[in-house]
Amino acid sequence: MDPLQQQLAHNLSGKSAYKALVSIALQYKGYFLLAILGMVVFALTEVAFAYLMKPMLDDGFINRDETVLKLIPVAIIAIFVVRLFASFVRTYCMDFIGRQVINNLRTRMFDKLLKLTTSEYDRASSGAITTKFAFDIEQVSESVSSALTTLIQDSLRIIALLTYLLWLSWQLTAIFLVAGPLVFLIVVKVSGRFRDMSKRIQRSMGEVSHIAQEVIDSNRVVKIFGGEAFEREKFERINRQNLKLNLKLTTAQAVSTPLIQLIVAISFAMIVAFATSDSMQGVITSGDFISFIFGLTSLFPPMRSLSVVNQKIQKGIAAGESVFEFLDKPDEIDRGDQTLPNTKGEISFRQVGFRYPGHQEKVLEDISFQVYPNQTVAIVGRSGSGKSTLVNLLPRLYDYSEGEIRLDEIEIRNLDLINLRCQIAYVGQDVRLFNDSIRNNIAYGMLSDCSDEQIIAAAKQAYAWEFIEKMPQGLDTQVGEKGVLLSGGQRQRLAIARALLKNAPVLILDEATSALDTESERHIQHAIQNLMSNRTTLVIAHRLSTVEHADQILVMQDGRIVERGTHRELIELDGVYGRLHAMQFSEQHDSQNG
Ligand SMILES: Nc1ncnc2c1ncn2[C@@H]1O[C@H](COP(=O)(O)OP(=O)(O)O)[C@@H](O)[C@H]1O
Ligand SMILES: [Mg+2]
Repeated sequence: MDPLQQQLAHNLSGKSAYKALVSIALQYKGYFLLAILGMVVFALTEVAFAYLMKPMLDDGFINRDETVLKLIPVAIIAIFVVRLFASFVRTYCMDFIGRQVINNLRTRMFDKLLKLTTSEYDRASSGAITTKFAFDIEQVSESVSSALTTLIQDSLRIIALLTYLLWLSWQLTAIFLVAGPLVFLIVVKVSGRFRDMSKRIQRSMGEVSHIAQEVIDSNRVVKIFGGEAFEREKFERINRQNLKLNLKLTTAQAVSTPLIQLIVAISFAMIVAFATSDSMQGVITSGDFISFIFGLTSLFPPMRSLSVVNQKIQKGIAAGESVFEFLDKPDEIDRGDQTLPNTKGEISFRQVGFRYPGHQEKVLEDISFQVYPNQTVAIVGRSGSGKSTLVNLLPRLYDYSEGEIRLDEIEIRNLDLINLRCQIAYVGQDVRLFNDSIRNNIAYGMLSDCSDEQIIAAAKQAYAWEFIEKMPQGLDTQVGEKGVLLSGGQRQRLAIARALLKNAPVLILDEATSALDTESERHIQHAIQNLMSNRTTLVIAHRLSTVEHADQILVMQDGRIVERGTHRELIELDGVYGRLHAMQFSEQHDSQNG
C-alpha cells in the first residue's frame, strides 16, 4: 500500500487530519525543495537585472565601452531564459503539492460523509455540504499552492532586492525602510476583517445554493402550491446579503491597496530628493542611482502581491476551517465487536426511549415488545406517532437513549455496525434511487456481485419485471436523477426487489407499498407475503387490511404502545385500533359504493 492510501485508511479527526495533511505535504519534500530552488533563482535574476543597469549606464552609455555594449543585450536575454525555467519549476512543483493535498482532503471528506450520523444528515443542508466539496476545498488549494508560492517567492524577491539595495546605498534604503513597518501594520489590521468577511460570504454562498437546490428538488410543489413569490422573497433576502458582504469585502480591498501605495510613493519622493541633494554629489554615480531606482521599483510588484496574498491566505484559512470542522464531526458510534453469522431473527425492545438529538421532546417512551424468529409484527398508528422512528432504531440509524434493543439476545450496540446492517433489509416510503441503471439500483452496494438471473428473479417476485421487460434497454435503463424517470410505484417495486435480493433475516417495511395503487398493491402483497414468510418482519402499514394476518399488532400513539394483540383481539377490544379499523372500513365501503 502506498503511503497516501495508508494515510487514508486511518480514520482521523479534523485536528489530526490537519497534521496528516501537513505530513502528506511533507512527503513531497523533494518537490518543495525544488520549488524553493526555483524561487531563489527567480529572485536572483531580478537582482541581476537591476545590477545590470549600473555597467549599462556607467560603462556603456557614458564611457561607451565596446565589450560592455556587446555583452549587455546577451546578458538580458540570458537572465530572462533562466527566469523562465525557474518560474516553471516553481509553479509546477507547488501546484503538484497543492493538488495532492486537495485530492487527499477531498477523499477524506467523502469518507467522513459516508460515516456521518443520521442526525447530522438531518441537520445539514445538502447545499452547505456540497459547497464544502466544491468551493471551500478549492479555496484551500489556492492557499496551499498559489498563495504559498506568492508568500515565499515574493518574500525572497524582497529580501534579495533589499540586500542588494543596502549594499548599493544604505542611506537611500534607510528612507525606504521607514515605510516598511507602516505597510506591515496596515496589512495586519485589515487581515482580520478579511477573514471574518470571507467566512460570512462562504456561509451565505451555502445558503444561496441551498435554496436553489430546494426549489430544484421540490419544483412541482413550488409550482402547484404557488410558492414562487415566497421562494423568490427568501432567495432575494439571502442574495442581497451576499451582495452586501461582497461589496464590503471589495471596499476593504479597494482601500487597503492604494493606501499602501501612497506610503510607498511618499518615500520614493524622499529618496529622489535625497539622492539629488548636494551632499550626495560624487558619492552616488548615475549608474548607481538608476540601478537603485530599478531595484526599488522591482520591489513594488512583490510587495503589492504580498499585500493581497493575505486575503488569499485568510480565505484559505476560513475555507480550511469549514473543511476541518466538517472532518471533526462525530462518526457513527461503532464500538461493537460481536458478530452474528446466522441470525435467527429474534428481536426484543425493552423499555426503549428516544429523543432526536437536539430536541427536548421524547419521541418514543417505554417501548417494549418481543418478536420471535420468523414472526411478523405490524406497527400501526396515526402519522407522527413514532412508527418510523421506532423501526429506524433497529439498524441504528439513530441510537436509542434509554432501555435496550436486542437481536438474538445480543444488544445491538455490541454488534459490529456493518454486521448488524447486513442482517436487515429495508423498504421505505420515500424511495430515492441512484442516477444509474435499473440493474445497479437493484443490485446496490453489497449486492453488486449478484448475477443477472438473481436480479431478474428478484424483479419478477417484486412485480417489477413486468415494466422493466417492456423498456427498450431492460435492466440497463437509466432511471434518471433520484429515479424521476420512473413512477412512484415503479420506484417502490425496485426497492422491494432490492430487499428481496438482499435476502436478509430481518425485514423492515415502512409503508413500503404506499405509492402503489390498490391493484398493484394486491399483486405485490403476494410478493411481500413470500418475502415475510421465512424471516422476522417489522411492518408499518397505512392500510390495515394488509396487516390483519400479522402475529402481533402494536398500536402506537404519541410515542407509546397503547394497544397490542392480534387483529381479532384488538377488534374485540374495540379501542384505538377498533376505531381506526372502522374508519378505514367505512372509507372503503364508501369508495366501493360511490
Ligand atoms: N429527523 C428528525 N428529527 C427530529 N424530529 C423528528 C425527525 N423525524 C421525525 N421526527 C419527529 O418524531 C415524531 C415521530 O415521527 P415518525 O417516527 O416519522 O412518525 P410516523 O412514522 O409514525 O409517522 C414526529 O413528531 C416527528 O416530528
Ligand atoms: Mg413514518
